[in-house]
Amino acid sequence: MRLFKLSLTSAAVATFGFAAFADGHTAALEGAVKARNGQMGVIGYSLGLLGGMAKGEAPYDAATASAAAENLNAAASMNRIVMWIDGTEQGVVAGSRALPEAFSDHAGFEAKFVDLETATAAMVTAAGTDLASLQAAMGPVGAACGACHKAYRGPKN
Ligand code: HEC
Repeated sequence: MRLFKLSLTSAAVATFGFAAFADGHTAALEGAVKARNGQMGVIGYSLGLLGGMAKGEAPYDAATASAAAENLNAAASMNRIVMWIDGTEQGVVAGSRALPEAFSDHAGFEAKFVDLETATAAMVTAAGTDLASLQAAMGPVGAACGACHKAYRGPKN
């Protein structure tokens, strides 16, 4: 998939061979990893708010649930091409837990993100409707998280 092949590859560093460029390059790759973990952080936080209501740990409130679902869906729908870039897998760039397969299997990884977007879009509608709808929408969202983490996220660093 063309869009993942941005210029930030290790090969580019090797070709240019400038130490200063390599330093800036490493910082850019680490920045991409931090940014996507920020994306995942918003996703995790938002799902936590919804999950708390779904489990009855927090009172159901339609406005709060809608806001959390909108942020969840927005974060899930962020443009991925400048954050999930080739050459940023676990063991190569500090802080990364993305398995090599996330970058060698672009189509499979992208499909998992699309599954998440589908589930979070349904959550946007459900969350503001009522508690039962919110609860029913939790399963597909949680399944989308788990399916991708199982296939493409490595062990804790
Ligand atoms: C398309 C794949 C994919 C989907 C879908 C996905 N994740 Fe992730 N997630 C990852 C990968 C890969 C990482 C590790 C990223 C890294 O370290 O570079 C990650 C990391 C995280 C982290 C760690 C962030 C940090 O600060 O270290 C959290 C929290 C998280 N995901 C929550 C979720 C939740 C909750 C969902 C579902 C609502 C979800 N993710 C859906 C792939 C996915």
